[in-house]
Amino acid sequence: MHPKYNRDRRRMPRMAPHETDSPVSRPTTEADLPDLLALWNDGRVMQWVGFRSGLCYDLERARGWFQRLKSDPARHHFVVHAQGVGFCGELCYAVDSVHRRAGLDIKFVPAAQGKGLATKALRALVDLVFRSEPQVDAVWTEPALNNAAARRLYGRCGLKPTPRPADMTAGSSYWELRRDSDLRRYYAEQAGEYDRVYEKPERQNDLARLREKLCRLLTARRVLEIACGTGYWTEPVGPVAKSVLATDINPEVLSIARHRCGGIPSVRFMEADAYTLAGVERDFTAALAAFWWSHVPRSRIPAFLSVLHLKLASDALVVLMDNRFVPGSSTPISRTDQEGNTYQQRQLADGRTYEVLKNFPDEAEIGRCLAGQATEVRFERLTYYWLATYRISR
Ligand SMILES: C[S@@+](CC[C@H](N)C(=O)[O-])C[C@H]1O[C@@H](n2cnc3c(N)ncnc32)[C@H](O)[C@@H]1O
Repeated sequence: MHPKYNRDRRRMPRMAPHETDSPVSRPTTEADLPDLLALWNDGRVMQWVGFRSGLCYDLERARGWFQRLKSDPARHHFVVHAQGVGFCGELCYAVDSVHRRAGLDIKFVPAAQGKGLATKALRALVDLVFRSEPQVDAVWTEPALNNAAARRLYGRCGLKPTPRPADMTAGSSYWELRRDSDLRRYYAEQAGEYDRVYEKPERQNDLARLREKLCRLLTARRVLEIACGTGYWTEPVGPVAKSVLATDINPEVLSIARHRCGGIPSVRFMEADAYTLAGVERDFTAALAAFWWSHVPRSRIPAFLSVLHLKLASDALVVLMDNRFVPGSSTPISRTDQEGNTYQQRQLADGRTYEVLKNFPDEAEIGRCLAGQATEVRFERLTYYWLATYRISR
């Protein structure tokens, strides 16, 4: 659990309302038990979890529940209120840090339903989980098959039906939202627009220099490329490398990359998540990650590096490059989260906006992340970009 959100529930922050009539969620206290009893004993609410007549709890049982809640640091429970309605219901999440996910639940009294309050409260909860629980990669739930309203609600908050993880016991459904899904979706949706980022006239000198450097560094190497996107860098590297396995999580960008590099026999493409690289072979003599580091949350850098390094031969060369923040040229930073990650609001041509995590590390930060795992670390600063190279040390 994030140190800020320790076991003292009184220190858990309220989820900030966006408007005056927005719901306000705060950590549950013993004084909330009468409201919760009314919710739990209402068959209209509890029928969806198998209790047509409600839970039939009394205050004593509710107190027992509250004591168990307080003694379990993985469970977080909130009550929700809204102007004009009063008590709306409960929200909770439980962290499974072994499997890096948090289960969500929400129950609202009938008087608070159908007003958009549950959607706002649940979205704020998802946001809170991703901000305050760095070890959680995904939030999940299992709405009852016949509970269409719950399914619509979770869908509005970005959760989608997903194959149930093998480590879980059987259940009626499994809906999930991954922490980086906005990033993934953004790049999937803007695949056709992506290359415009390389058309900015003021950046052409830097780009030419990066191209020339990359080709020199990767000549005759067996290259694993992470998050290759539309293949902008795969195309010049392919002909000089011995081979390139270019990976990305999004089939939409891979199909553009395949088309672009179609005539280069040494280049192969594969769909792979950079955090697992599942199915990717080993013993590459070089790795390339262009404009990927900036999208990795700070807390996930060590895990990303260990997965990457496992795929490389000892003494392999790693090439990283990414953006520097240039005021007036870079998209402004919209917020910074508690672990220091920065975010941008990215807009597609059709107006849809996505919040994308985009960090701008300096040489010192890259050095700290690589400490103990790299030798011959070099860092070069261009006007718009940085380039770092190192050899892995085992
Ligand atoms: C900024 S683009 C970089 C593309 C390419 N390397 C370039 O420099 O033009 C980031 C890429 O990361 C991919 N991506 C997002 N999440 C990913 C993940 N978990 N694993 C692998 N690729 C991912 C996106 O599909 C996108 O193509």
